[in-house]
Amino acid sequence: MGKDVIVACDFSTEKEVYDFLDLFQQDKPFVKIGMELFYGAGPGIVRNIKERGHKIFLDLKCHDIPNTVKKTMKVLASLGVDICNLHAAGTSEMMRAALEGLKEGAEEQGKERPLLIAVTQLTSTDQEAMERELLIEKPIDEVVMSYALNAKNSGLDGVVCSPLEAGKVHQVCGENFLTVTPGVRFKEDSKGDQKRVMTPSEAKEAGSDYIVVGRPITGALNPVEAYRRCLEEFISLA
Ligand code: C5P
Repeated sequence: MGKDVIVACDFSTEKEVYDFLDLFQQDKPFVKIGMELFYGAGPGIVRNIKERGHKIFLDLKCHDIPNTVKKTMKVLASLGVDICNLHAAGTSEMMRAALEGLKEGAEEQGKERPLLIAVTQLTSTDQEAMERELLIEKPIDEVVMSYALNAKNSGLDGVVCSPLEAGKVHQVCGENFLTVTPGVRFKEDSKGDQKRVMTPSEAKEAGSDYIVVGRPITGALNPVEAYRRCLEEFISLA
């Protein structure tokens, strides 16, 4: 898969998502479905959006014992998602099991294996909380890179990270290891609750493979125009 813009559809009802996607007459944006929508609407939402021709990143951030995650991934593969994810903190054993589950699920369905990416440390976790509550005393950047390397060595396809970390992740894990980066804003936007942000063109320069963009598109007066601007800045479509 090449570079792309993934639109975070952070809505709580199916109707809101369909009303939003109906705005796109010519484009078929890559869609991110998060926990809120998945748990609210159920797995049918994935199949329905897939049937409309969209690629899907299912952002459920799985984290459990290896056997449970393996079986979960098997089910997710059968839903036909294109990207799914888990927490690298679940250990390499869990990540390898997850990958096996995805492979089995995809093979049984005759589908392509979804890409599997790892969350390293959540951007809401800072150095202080990591030391105080998780009892991890290393610098957070080192922890993020070490988790990314565990993911790579477990056979995963990439990580979710800040665009500011994308270059370093590529240095440590190789150019083909995917970096999927939220925290994207247009130059003139307010940051909202995102603290460390980049514009789509800066994220491109930084080496992000996929940018995940929510409110700058979903909250825009003209979402289609905002989406196209992201594509132009990030992929430089003519
Ligand atoms: O609206 P906004 O562009 O900030 O949305 C970013 C999306 O990326 C949201 O769905 C958010 O949950 C997700 N995300 C994030 N930071 C992370 C991981 C995921 O903002 N570290």
